[in-house]
Amino acid sequence: MNNLFDMPKTTAVILAAGKGTRMKSTLPKVLHKAGGRTMLAQVLHQVRAAGIEDCCVVVGHGAEEVRASLPASENLHFALQMPQLGTGHCAQQALPHIPKDSEAVLLVCGDTPLLTAATLSALQEKFISTGTDGLILTAEMTNPTGYGRIVRGEDGGVCGIVEEKDATAEQKRITEINTGAYIFRHQVLADALGKLDNNNAQGEYYLTDVIKIIAAAGGKIDTLTTADPMETTGVNDRAQLAQAAAELYRRKAHELMVAGVTIIDPTNCYIDQQVEVGPDTVIYPNCQLRGETKIGSGCVIDSDCIITDSQVGDNCTLIKAVLTEAKVGSGANIGPFAYLRPGSNLGDKVKVGDFAEIKNANIGDGSKIPHLSYIGDADVGSGVNIGCGTITCNYDGVHKFRTVIGDNVFIGSNTNLVAPVTVGDDAFVGAGSTITRDVAAGALAVERSRQQQFDGWATEKSPKALAAKSKK
Ligand code: UD1
Ligand code: CA
Repeated sequence: MNNLFDMPKTTAVILAAGKGTRMKSTLPKVLHKAGGRTMLAQVLHQVRAAGIEDCCVVVGHGAEEVRASLPASENLHFALQMPQLGTGHCAQQALPHIPKDSEAVLLVCGDTPLLTAATLSALQEKFISTGTDGLILTAEMTNPTGYGRIVRGEDGGVCGIVEEKDATAEQKRITEINTGAYIFRHQVLADALGKLDNNNAQGEYYLTDVIKIIAAAGGKIDTLTTADPMETTGVNDRAQLAQAAAELYRRKAHELMVAGVTIIDPTNCYIDQQVEVGPDTVIYPNCQLRGETKIGSGCVIDSDCIITDSQVGDNCTLIKAVLTEAKVGSGANIGPFAYLRPGSNLGDKVKVGDFAEIKNANIGDGSKIPHLSYIGDADVGSGVNIGCGTITCNYDGVHKFRTVIGDNVFIGSNTNLVAPVTVGDDAFVGAGSTITRDVAAGALAVERSRQQQFDGWATEKSPKALAAKSKK
């Protein structure tokens, strides 16, 4: 095992200029998502996780969109391939963007989202320990159709890669395939790329031809065979995209289970790659944890939750809840049928029950919104009880206004709070009130018309009573 000091400076090149015709999409292929990230972002993430900082992405089809999909960073460069004349031509466009002091170049395809950092590290380690000019990541496939085949000489050494479309019947029987990931000595690659031609079945400049060029010049080529051929599958259509996503979800569930999360049915929950979940949390079937979501420990994420870009503290219970860009403290109880929209910021031990919607609101510790409420653009203190059916009327058709509710307030059922309005600490609002003026701390506010009673009306004078009388 080599330490970091032995690692030659390496630049990664990600081939991402192709159209992806078989996806039948207006979106460039590498921008399709699997497991919560675009395929390109996933490949880049693994490259970085393997310790390679410097990276050049070759863009072409949908160049601007692809470029914009990645956060700008100092070590991330883009090369433009226009038109797209093959993988070799693609690599040629990257050359001017590779720093001169970079001794090695790792090339990977942008459509192989299952490649792992561990495999890329193994590739780097073998490259260093064997001192080769070029190292190809290969796989043994029972059905190698569609892939380039590794051609070996009588001594067993690699002498080239032949593409499916150029292969003879005998070569097509070779089961050792090119995964499309390689590492080369920078100068050797640059020299070989300068010698490519397009005399082949597809009239393209093949990156794979650098192998025979290097081998013919006496350079040393070696291979590393992946233990898991699944890792290297390229995504060319939507069916393969779904397979890749399923594998990424499977891996994520496995990673979390190893770390102490209980997942009732790992094949029936969808947890994005970036998500964090604490130990002793239990995740029931049919949940989706998406994007930059963090769940604490000891939680119960019961069935049918969709949690996107949200944070949930420890020991919370959620069931059939939809959270988007929301924050929930510890010990909270959310759902069933609760909807926390962006800007919902709940303290500890908050309860949000059935058919309650929260948006852009702070809810203090221990407050309860148990049923049938809309609380939007509000600051609710701690220990507050919001009665069933209460809503904040935050919108006058043009502007939005805030509702402020102090600590330990009791809001009776079916109250309308017409913003802007403030209810002071410890105040009490009678059920059915429409509150348009501020309520002082400790006061009772009731707004409803006085109840009237007409004795005997129902039995004597109601339409039903009159109809019964006329029949007699
Ligand atoms: C390539 C390899 C093949 C290997 C296979 C592994 C070549 C000639 N063949 O074939 O040996 O078994 O990958 O999956 O390299 N791209 C560009 N510009 C281009 C053409 C392609 O950026 O002009 C990009 C694509 O966006 C894609 C990658 O290169 O990310 C691979 O291209 P693709 O056309 O899918 O190559 P394969 O036919 O799969
Ligand atoms: Ca491919």
